[in-house]
Amino acid sequence: TQSNTMARRLMVGGNWKCNGTMGFAKSHSTDVLNKLKFDPKKVEVVVAPTALHLSTVMANVSNNVHVATQNLSLTGNGAFTGELSTDMITDAGITHTLTGHSERRTLYGESDADVAKKTKLAADAGLTVLACIGELLEERESGKTKDVNERQLNAIRELCDDWSKIVIAYEPVWAIGTGKTATPEIAQETHAEIREWLGKNVSADAQKNVRILYGGSVTDANAAELIAMPDIDGFLVGGASLK
Ligand code: 13P
Repeated sequence: TQSNTMARRLMVGGNWKCNGTMGFAKSHSTDVLNKLKFDPKKVEVVVAPTALHLSTVMANVSNNVHVATQNLSLTGNGAFTGELSTDMITDAGITHTLTGHSERRTLYGESDADVAKKTKLAADAGLTVLACIGELLEERESGKTKDVNERQLNAIRELCDDWSKIVIAYEPVWAIGTGKTATPEIAQETHAEIREWLGKNVSADAQKNVRILYGGSVTDANAAELIAMPDIDGFLVGGASLK
């Protein structure tokens, strides 16, 4: 393990999920996001509003706050009702996207292969991709955490050779929206396994440089002890990012 202060710029993302109004998108941009104090050379700040609120956030946040879509289409432009293509996302000046959030996987049936394909499409379009992985409670309890994460990562690896635009967001499903954060030790153990997987399956460069974010009930009360861990390079925050 290496110190995360050495090579990797930290990233903190806020995932609004299906929350917000036009008024919130504007006021949160100007009153909260634009008032954050951070050094953009050290921390990359990203916000993922709903598709409907993207333009409002884009129009109101300062240059140091990057905007992400929460999802993207498996297909390009055309007869695909309800979808957002990578062409539209990049045309709108959006630079980041999430893929594979557990809610997409469990509630909307996205397979490992779908997530891999979206990750590839987004990275090829030049988007920075926060590719989400993580195990369910029963998988952790039955000792399958490493297998599940590696299965999800292997699917992405099959399609993606270039990991320079990929950020991994490790979000144990049992910690999402539950108030049950992984302890720093549990999160670090899994992050270290993911980093080792990168070294064995992608490259030494990826092992050193790919950022691994933690997500799952991160708040101002637990962020400091989590970020102190050597393989935790930032956060993907849900509920607390709305406050
Ligand atoms: P919470 O921070 O609400 O647990 O959500 C985490 C998450 O899913 C971020 O993508």
